[in-house]
Amino acid sequence: PSSASREKEKTLAIIKPDGFSGNYTGEIKRLILLSGFSILKEKIVHLDKENVALFYAEHSERTFFPSLVKYMTSGPVVVIVLEKVNAIADWRALIGPTDAQKAKITHPDSVRALCGLNSERNCVHGSDSPQSAAKEISFFFGEMFSSGEVIANHDEL
Ligand code: PPS
Repeated sequence: PSSASREKEKTLAIIKPDGFSGNYTGEIKRLILLSGFSILKEKIVHLDKENVALFYAEHSERTFFPSLVKYMTSGPVVVIVLEKVNAIADWRALIGPTDAQKAKITHPDSVRALCGLNSERNCVHGSDSPQSAAKEISFFFGEMFSSGEVIANHDEL
């Protein structure tokens, strides 16, 4: 492997409303740390429609979009910046496939198998590429996140 592949990478994780309200935050963070990630930043936010529409803009034409917006605004979420070598792919591997129903069969040790229900209520999010990771981290921790309510941030957690 080249030296570049051993450089640390950052990715964005979100514990979605069902993960947070189902009290899975502690267990998920335990798995994150056990898997060698560092938690750089973290906050609990309640997203509004505008935030979710912007965050999932690439899916705005999908039939499930209105339902996804409703779900993601239904309660607080935990947004976390993770860091480790190969963080983006490793976090995606740890969370398992989008459809949590399938995850329970094919990836029983994944986070979505642990606390997800289906393709919508799938408990967690992970950036899918270096470009998305950069965009999503700046969305929540840069200037772009303006209207959603921040309930708690890293220092208080
Ligand atoms: S796709 O088809 O490849 O674009 O789908 P995927 O990238 O796996 O999913 C993108 C996000 O959309 C959510 N999703 C859904 N929400 C509601 N209903 C249905 N049927 C549905 N299918 C996919 C999915 O949870 C993904 O959210 P994130 O937060 O990116 O994981």
